[in-house]
Amino acid sequence: MDGYHGCVFAYGQTGSGKTHTIFGGPAEERGLVPRIAEDLFAGLEPGGGDSAVRLSYLELYNEKARDLLSPAAHGSPPSLEVREHPRVGVFVQGLTKNRVHSAGEVARLLDFGHRVRAVGRTNMNAVSSRSHAIVTFHVERAVLGSGSGGDPFCSRRRRAQLHAVDLAGSERLWQTGDSEVRQHESKQINKSLLALSTMISRLADREKGSKFGGAAKSYVPYRDSKLTFLLSESLMGNCKTAMLACISPSAQCFSMTESTIRFAESVKRIRTRPVRNEEVEGDLLRALQAELGGLRQQLQAAEGAATGAGQDVGRRLAEDLEVARSLTDELSMTPAEEQALTARADARRQRSLASLGGAASEAAAADEPPPPPGDERARRLARSEERLPQRGSGPSGGLRRQSPARAVVPPIW
Ligand SMILES: Nc1ncnc2c1ncn2[C@@H]1O[C@H](COP(=O)(O)OP(=O)(O)OP(=O)(O)O)[C@@H](O)[C@H]1O
Ligand SMILES: [Mg+2]
Repeated sequence: MDGYHGCVFAYGQTGSGKTHTIFGGPAEERGLVPRIAEDLFAGLEPGGGDSAVRLSYLELYNEKARDLLSPAAHGSPPSLEVREHPRVGVFVQGLTKNRVHSAGEVARLLDFGHRVRAVGRTNMNAVSSRSHAIVTFHVERAVLGSGSGGDPFCSRRRRAQLHAVDLAGSERLWQTGDSEVRQHESKQINKSLLALSTMISRLADREKGSKFGGAAKSYVPYRDSKLTFLLSESLMGNCKTAMLACISPSAQCFSMTESTIRFAESVKRIRTRPVRNEEVEGDLLRALQAELGGLRQQLQAAEGAATGAGQDVGRRLAEDLEVARSLTDELSMTPAEEQALTARADARRQRSLASLGGAASEAAAADEPPPPPGDERARRLARSEERLPQRGSGPSGGLRRQSPARAVVPPIW
């Protein structure tokens, strides 16, 4: 609420309890995200005042960014582009940011996303996450007259994001199982975790270098994977970041535990530089509109050049224009337009759930927040596997995400 970006990420080997920590089980066992939602709404004025909370839920599956809250997610979750903008930072273009007003609403949206997220059975974990998941609370609030030397009656806006990241766990081949799909997923998971680990160790070395007056400018390869690109601001920029090291008590996992602790040591050495994200009301929108106008003119000029470098410049400008347009559209949406958009998305999500057979029980429990994943995930996965005994040996390799036609996931609310 104070305008600082935040990030908490759970790291550790497969089966060590990352998903359980981030999302949790029922009631008292609920995890971090439901508790964050409760605290967030408890801190808001009744009715929300001049503040807004939006929720997004994204997975990185085999290096593709997928929107888990998109109404179309149950068919095939849309795959989105990760972009960078000089003023806005790294963001996912077209990601659903659903306005939420209560912890119950957050729980319902997350439940929709959990049904879509890639989860599968491995030798180590019956409900192993096959993707990295990022839940983000986008919080904005209007404040009067803060900021150094500013007009005391000038209206300002604070915008901040809080990411809760449930990483997929690193795993050895024997832990993954024999399925080809699982092994491909495992390679992608390990590859992105390796990129994360390289980035962390470069950042830790850089801190050490600057502490001892040495070269502090070593290159940090944050564009090597979508995971590091998306977490770049949280790990090396303007953010208050915390890591949760999840470890298994089993003696068999000793070497993985050791490497998790070593990783946590490196993370501890990194220093981020959080600042309050506050601007004069409308500043960002005005800047984006000006950028959009400038880009349109440049694009028109570049369209004259039909060949070679001119075409490349034109393509780049068209891409920048698209980014600026999508950010401008998002910021300039009126409350009524947003409400209509949210209502349409909700209705489509309900229809999508209904096509999975969840409509009846959903209507019965409309006002009740659904149970968090935890035991539910295991129960649903076990049931779907019971009903599809051939899964795991087929091309899907037991992956839980399905097209509506093959859907067997039972309703849980
Ligand atoms: N503290 C806990 N209390 C009760 N059950 C737990 C706890 N931690 C983990 N579990 C259970 O252990 C199993 C594995 O946990 P979880 O799925 O959270 O692991 P993970 O680290 O996310 O693994 P992966 O990397 O494969 O996704 C789950 O069935 C989960 O409910
Ligand atoms: Mg998990």
